[in-house]
Amino acid sequence: MAAARTAGAVQKKHYGKLLNVDCKMRNDIKLEVDRLCEDAIINSILQVFPTHGILSEERGLTGGEASEYLWIIDPLDGTVNFFYGLPYFCTSIACYRLGAAATGGLPGEAVCAAVYAPLTGDLFTAEAGAGAELNGEELRVAHIDRLAEAMIATGFGSTEAGIRKLCDGGATLAGKVRKLRCLGAAAYDICNVACGRLSGFFEKGLYNWDVAAAALIATEAGAKVRMHEISPGRWDFLACAPGIFDELSALLDQSDTQSHS
Ligand code: IPD
Ligand code: CA
Repeated sequence: MAAARTAGAVQKKHYGKLLNVDCKMRNDIKLEVDRLCEDAIINSILQVFPTHGILSEERGLTGGEASEYLWIIDPLDGTVNFFYGLPYFCTSIACYRLGAAATGGLPGEAVCAAVYAPLTGDLFTAEAGAGAELNGEELRVAHIDRLAEAMIATGFGSTEAGIRKLCDGGATLAGKVRKLRCLGAAAYDICNVACGRLSGFFEKGLYNWDVAAAALIATEAGAKVRMHEISPGRWDFLACAPGIFDELSALLDQSDTQSHS
């Protein structure tokens, strides 16, 4: 939580200002602030746990040779929103214990997680087996059992193939749910499923750091989480209220089959 707040302070300081861009792709942007947040988080964790390993979006895998713990970090989730001044982004931090039984397909077993959105002050936290909280209040997923009443979010990702697939499948889904949204920060979206603001979220091709923390938070809040590993460390991801899981997962599978044929 302290590490997430440190990154949140960096984000608040730079938000809305002229930003240094490290790298621009057609579908994505990397900012200096991504790295500044990452430095702040890693320093904060290593001060307390100097031997632990770190897997973070910008630096990759570092340290941890003599430790069974791995911290998985997205220093700034929603970088493109941040760049355009859209106030929907967060920091995502999870701790996993390697060598323990894997849960949800990530390396080892999730221990604890924090996702922090500094502009709204939303601090989502979870500890494996002990539930999830939003700013200290216990979280529960939405009570909903009809897709027609569901508010579903998704993300386009940044690969051409992923964007095409979503354009094909999204059109069918949009006609079956109350609203389909594309908000631009996967970890925050998944946490919003955990607290019932969204009924479900899915995206293809998410990375470990996009989902490591939020998957634990959603699971602990009672969401159904389905993760298919499509390549090492990349996931087709779905989290939703249990009451719409069967209908939603069947619909997503059906649109997958159609886009393959
Ligand atoms: C991205 C955001 C976006 C999702 C992309 C992610 P980033 O993370 O979560 O909503 O659609 O797939 O890569 O690059 O802002 O950390
Ligand atoms: Ca990021």
